Amino acid sequence: MKNRLKIEELIAKNGAGKGKLIPLLQEIQEIEGYLSKETIRFLSQEIGIGIADIYGVATFYTMFRLKPQGKHTIRVCKGTACHVSNANMIMNSLRNELQLVGEEDTTADNKFTVFEVACLGCCSLAPVIMIDKATYGKLDVNKITDILAKY
Ligand code: FES
Repeated sequence: MKNRLKIEELIAKNGAGKGKLIPLLQEIQEIEGYLSKETIRFLSQEIGIGIADIYGVATFYTMFRLKPQGKHTIRVCKGTACHVSNANMIMNSLRNELQLVGEEDTTADNKFTVFEVACLGCCSLAPVIMIDKATYGKLDVNKITDILAKY
């Protein structure tokens, strides 16, 4: 396993009790980008918490990811101001453009992962998306192809 040593260090630093599981998972996700089956299995052995219990925590909190993320993160705001400014159409158009089907949130080439977020804090620009650290406001569906082409 690629980050075995780093994960062992994190366990040594944080401790292995149940109360330490969330910070441990957060730090591991920071290193690996997501929580793989292999990592969860390893963690379970190391800290003595069952695999099902770790999955229980990892699936309960939306901050944890169980699949690899794309190179670029797209946050689509679905807050009130964006919602009333056609955020749904923006999301549908983005997903179409990226050929995401059903529950998929990451493109087949691992280039983009799309998330829905509650508010990006710039409601006057609604509807808004963020790609990595760049904000794109006052969007309409006709701009999406050009924006994605920059990446
Ligand atoms: S509601 Fe979309 S930025 Fe606030």
